Amino acid sequence: MARLLEVNNLRVIFRTYRGIIKALNGVRLWLNEEERLGIVGETGCGKSVSALSIMRLIDEPGEIIEGQVLFEGTDLLKITEEEMDKTVRGKKMSMIFQEPISALNPVFKVGFQIAESIAHSSEISMGDAYEKAPEILEMVGLDWRRSMDLYPHELSGGMAQRVMIAMALAVKPKLLIADEPTSALDVTIQAQILQLLDELVRVGRNAVILITHDLGIASEFCDRITVMYAGNAIEISSSEEIFEEPLHPYTKGLIDSIPIIGASKVLSGIPGSVPDLIAPPPGCRFHPRCDFCFDKCCVELPDLKEVKPGHFVACHLYSDSF
Ligand SMILES: Nc1ncnc2c1ncn2[C@@H]1O[C@H](COP(=O)(O)OP(=O)(O)OP(=O)(O)O)[C@@H](O)[C@H]1O
Ligand SMILES: [Mg+2]
Repeated sequence: MARLLEVNNLRVIFRTYRGIIKALNGVRLWLNEEERLGIVGETGCGKSVSALSIMRLIDEPGEIIEGQVLFEGTDLLKITEEEMDKTVRGKKMSMIFQEPISALNPVFKVGFQIAESIAHSSEISMGDAYEKAPEILEMVGLDWRRSMDLYPHELSGGMAQRVMIAMALAVKPKLLIADEPTSALDVTIQAQILQLLDELVRVGRNAVILITHDLGIASEFCDRITVMYAGNAIEISSSEEIFEEPLHPYTKGLIDSIPIIGASKVLSGIPGSVPDLIAPPPGCRFHPRCDFCFDKCCVELPDLKEVKPGHFVACHLYSDSF
């Protein structure tokens, strides 16, 4: 499959009254057509900022200061806002957000909002788009007769997320970015929504970036995983290998934090927390929390290196020379 997306050396900062937050510190990730990539990591690691940068939705006080976002070979950071809007955002790429209710416009009915996204993506009239809306609602398992005329506040969390999925997929995107699409829902609804998403992207042959805290969900849903820590992609591998042979001490910690039903194992977790990105630790940003830290880790940021075919890690434990 051809390469769809390649993000290189992405750096994003936020200028705040407290100081400059170095949110992304040279992120690298990539995705082929029809592939599914999971991005996992603790809160504040830069998962959403990465997604928003790919969609070019970083606004004041944020700024993309360096890097490339190559989509079908074109650097999206170099095209005009008009081109981005006309050809990429809401067309070839669409996004599902964590809080579906707040992502919907409260003053318009569901049918109208779906029609609007269809009209935008396929450049047909609102009247024609409105006629297509019932089909889209049925696709996500909603009774269109009931749902078309509802306002967002009348939807349950699960229904609202179905509407968001409908809107994001109605545009037939090449790339769907789903940022924590189920974390606001309870566990049974979560499973239903993920199953629905799985079926729809299989049929639509969309590539997907799924952002989640949950490495288990990510590896079940995705072909490959990118683990992020404090603004860097620190390990990338296939979903199977990340569990069978995690390399980065942070990834190992994440795996050890996953509860296993019926097991009596005490969860070890990862001591400490993600650093304040205004003054992140020098060298490897994980070193203050790492049991394997040595001198070099405190001064030099490790590069993301391919240590086995398709398995990349940014950690000095795997450098050739110490
Ligand atoms: N609008 C903003 N203004 C200031 N700082 C921001 C803004 N958005 C993100 N940041 C900072 O950028 C860093 C990365 O945030 P991001 O939202 O990408 O984390 P995340 O991995 O998505 O976390 P979560 O799992 O909680 O969603 C954090 O330090 C965050 O405080
Ligand atoms: Mg986030």
